[in-house]
Formats: sequence, structure tokens, C-alpha cells
Amino acid sequence: MAHNLDLLLTVAWKNNSIVLIDQTKLPNKLVYAKCKDYMEVADAIKKLVVRGAPAIGVTAAFGLALAAQQSKAKNLQELKVDLDSAFKVLRATRPTAVNLFWALERIMTSSKRAKTAKEARKLMLDEALRMSEEDINANRQMGANGAKLFNDGDIVLTHCNAGSLATVAYGTALGVIRAARESGKRLSVIATETRPVMQGSRLTAFELQYDGIDVSLIPDTAVGHIMAKGAIRRVIVGADRVLRTGHVFNKIGTYQVAILANKHKVPFYVAAPLSTFDFEGNPEDVVIEERSADEVVRVGKKRMAPKGVRIFNPAFDMTPPELITGIITERGVLTPPFEKSLKSLLG
Ligand code: MRU
Repeated sequence: MAHNLDLLLTVAWKNNSIVLIDQTKLPNKLVYAKCKDYMEVADAIKKLVVRGAPAIGVTAAFGLALAAQQSKAKNLQELKVDLDSAFKVLRATRPTAVNLFWALERIMTSSKRAKTAKEARKLMLDEALRMSEEDINANRQMGANGAKLFNDGDIVLTHCNAGSLATVAYGTALGVIRAARESGKRLSVIATETRPVMQGSRLTAFELQYDGIDVSLIPDTAVGHIMAKGAIRRVIVGADRVLRTGHVFNKIGTYQVAILANKHKVPFYVAAPLSTFDFEGNPEDVVIEERSADEVVRVGKKRMAPKGVRIFNPAFDMTPPELITGIITERGVLTPPFEKSLKSLLG
């Protein structure tokens, strides 16, 4: 193997542009897409060229830093006008992953320390680069914290892609699996396909195979059957947003996996960095993204539903805290009751 995915950054800043692994082309081609301005960045996020909450956050951070670099503003007031427009466009790309809003706010805040437009440009880019590094470090730390919860020989089910491809590198849920393997435990992974966009088959199966981690792919509809057979020891997924109460918003289908895990007494873990936590929101405030009907109607180019049929395509669902065994963060593992353990984790 030439290299592992740890060395292939999902998002990187190179020569005043943003280079992304083009995830719409996986698993057939491993190619990069270059974003030369913030509009291209927004488009890449909307079209899932880059996806996964932490990767979306860091990409948007670079997008806003790029808008600052390219602005013709001569002073801070002029720069603020340009930044406000870029901020609005980037904010409107996807509604559920809280990392997007967290990242944009953090870049905006960094610009406020500047006395000149030039200084603001530098502070913003430095902050985005720092966030990219922090993401990898948080994933490694989450991996170390979570690996202890897994035993040698475990068969672990995951849904969607919370891997290297959903972060800058290493991954959240798949980062924990990587760390367990690095600590000498042999794990096998069962990846669900994750209809309708197939992040499980296109991305998780790809990246685990690429890294030489044992992986089998199943249809989403096989989860109940396989759990009933007693084959699964643990479930681990990522998150797009975790509320202080422990409600977890993640890829559509996560909730039904959690229900099945509960029914079959399989521990259900979530791996999420603190940048994915929404400390203020309540379940009813969270906007669940609804995506195009086309994603459901077609498999590849082929139409799989009659013309005119009504389609509902929610991209995320909410798993309530009572179905969750633990939430792995870079600071430690939260256990129920989550509100209380989060308070003591944050000190
Ligand atoms: O629509 P996507 O592919 O952006 O959804 C991604 C997920 O649901 C992931 O599980 C989540 O973002 C966690 S990524 C570490």
C-alpha cells in the first residue's frame, strides 16, 4: 500500500486555494477538486464533494479565510462588508452539522482582533490552519479514549461515514476503530450502505479497505437480521450535532440502528468532537436537512421510482439519549445522564 488515508488530507489549504478529495467520485476514482473562491467552496459543500460534520466545518473556515484573501477591501470596514456576504453564503450551505456554524463564527471572531485588513487576513488564515490541525489532534485523542471500549476480535457495526473522509484526517468513529487496531486489537467492521447517498458503501468501505481494515458491507435493511444472529458486539457512529442532553443528530437511519442495538443489547457509541456539540439548542430547534428527491429516485443514473411519486428525503435523524451507551469526545467518554457528565467533563 502506497500510503494510508491519514496522509491524504480530506481538505487542505494549498497556494491560496482549497484542495478537497472529491467524494462524489469515490470509490471509483481518488481525485481532488480545487476551490478557487468561496462560491466554489459553498458549492462543494452543497454537492457533497466534501461532507461529514468536521470536514464541512474546516472547509467552511478555509472558505471564509479565502474570501478575506481575495477581497479587494482597503480597510477593515470594507473587508467586513465582503466577509459578511461570504459568511451568509457559506452558512446557507447545509443546516444540520453544527460544525459549520461553529467554524464560521470562530473565523469571524478571529478577524475582530485585527487592527488592519491585512492583519485580519492573516489572523483568519492562521485560525483556519489551526482548526485543521486541531481536528486531527481531537480525532487522535478521541481514538485513544474510545479504543479502550473495544475488545480484541469485536465485530463493530457503523453507519454512514464518520471516517478520515468526514474529517481532515483519521476520523471520529472510524478513528476509534483505527486507534483500537493500532493498540493491537483486531476488529472487523460491518458497514451499512447508507442509502440514499451511499456514504457507507462508497466511502466507509473504500477507506477501510484502503487502510487494510477488515470490512464487510451490508444493505441497511440487514441490520436487524444480523443483530438478531448475535454477530455484532458494538455499534459506533459519528454525529452532526450533539445536544447537551445527549440527543444525537446523525445520518438518516442512525435512529433505527440505535433501536435495534437497544433491542439486542448491543452497546451503542457515538464519537464526536466538542466542535460538534450544540450547547444551547433543543431537539425541536434543530433543522433536519431535506435533500433533493433525485437522490432517492435514482440509483446511479437509473430511475427506480415512477415519475410523479411523492418523495421525502430527510438527510438526518435524532437518536434520543436513552438509546446511547456513551459519547466519546477528545476530553473523555460521556455516560448517561449526559447533561451531568458533560458538565463535569467541561469542569
Ligand atoms: O450528509 P453527510 O455525508 O455530510 O452526513 C455525514 C454524517 O452523518 C456523519 O456521520 C457525521 O457528519 C459525522 S462525521 C465525523
